[in-house]
Amino acid sequence: MTAGGGNRPTVVVTRRLPAPVEERLAQEFAARLSGDDHPFTNAELQAGLRSADALLPTVSDRISAEVLAVEPLRARILANFGVGFNHIDVTAAKVRGLVVTNTPEVLTDDTADDAIMLMLMVARRGGEGERHVRSGAWTGWRPTHMLGTRVSGKTLGLIGMGRIGRAVARRAHHGFGMRVIFHDPFPPPADVVADVAAEAKATVEDVLREADFVSLHSPATPATHHLMNARRIALMKPTAFLINTARGDIVDEAALVTALKGKQIAGAALDVYEKEPQVTPDLLTMEQVVLLPHLGSATHETRVAMGMRAIDNLKAFFEGGAPRDRVA
Ligand code: DGY
Repeated sequence: MTAGGGNRPTVVVTRRLPAPVEERLAQEFAARLSGDDHPFTNAELQAGLRSADALLPTVSDRISAEVLAVEPLRARILANFGVGFNHIDVTAAKVRGLVVTNTPEVLTDDTADDAIMLMLMVARRGGEGERHVRSGAWTGWRPTHMLGTRVSGKTLGLIGMGRIGRAVARRAHHGFGMRVIFHDPFPPPADVVADVAAEAKATVEDVLREADFVSLHSPATPATHHLMNARRIALMKPTAFLINTARGDIVDEAALVTALKGKQIAGAALDVYEKEPQVTPDLLTMEQVVLLPHLGSATHETRVAMGMRAIDNLKAFFEGGAPRDRVA
């Protein structure tokens, strides 16, 4: 079966995708697009796996072992729209003979921009200030009004120094004159570290003790689940801020709430949540917290690029080649 031929592979797409991506999918495949963008149930995911050659899921679809136990299984590839694939049980996918691909690189810059935006918003009270103006409470400029924390020149601590962590480091160091420290069990090459004058730390704890801003850039794995637990959050300075654009369950949200309430840290800025899209209700009430709805890759440019990358992976697979972004 080849893409573009009369007998085109059938691809089930779980969510609405940007128009150029849906147009190309419709040209190259027998694409079953999402009309109404509703989240698929397990039964709908299984119906896709039973009836199509490929599934194109997104990071909000939970492709569990239970879902993958479907019989009969027709699909041969899960072409994920997103770089993170912790929502897919990759072990179960392998057992079922499914290839899994993701969409790295194309979202690096936008996600790094998102982390910088969160850092500035939480330090300079951007969200709080906007709420203040919109509510009509603002009475005018005054020297002591809504003072925040300076970002420029401070110490940024990166937990994870992969593609996105490095892009954040470049912005922070070259743009804001920040000192960069990091911990990564797989550190980047020396020239990358030198470019941002970064200092590698032997442990996560070493980063937490020194950083004014801690930004998380680890993948979500069993080893990083609740990496930021009560004990580690307590190591942060009382003046420090926690930024998370990686995955929600890297942070123990209940422990974060306790730390914020007890003023153990100055604030937090989150793009991702432990039980997404649910947000721990206490966080919604805290002015020292910035909350965004998983916007890391949310630009027109990147979402189109992610879709094209997923299509390229599907094409390579159905043409008998090796998909560029195979993760399983
Ligand atoms: C990803 O790709 O994993 C992001 O979280 C969503 O763009």
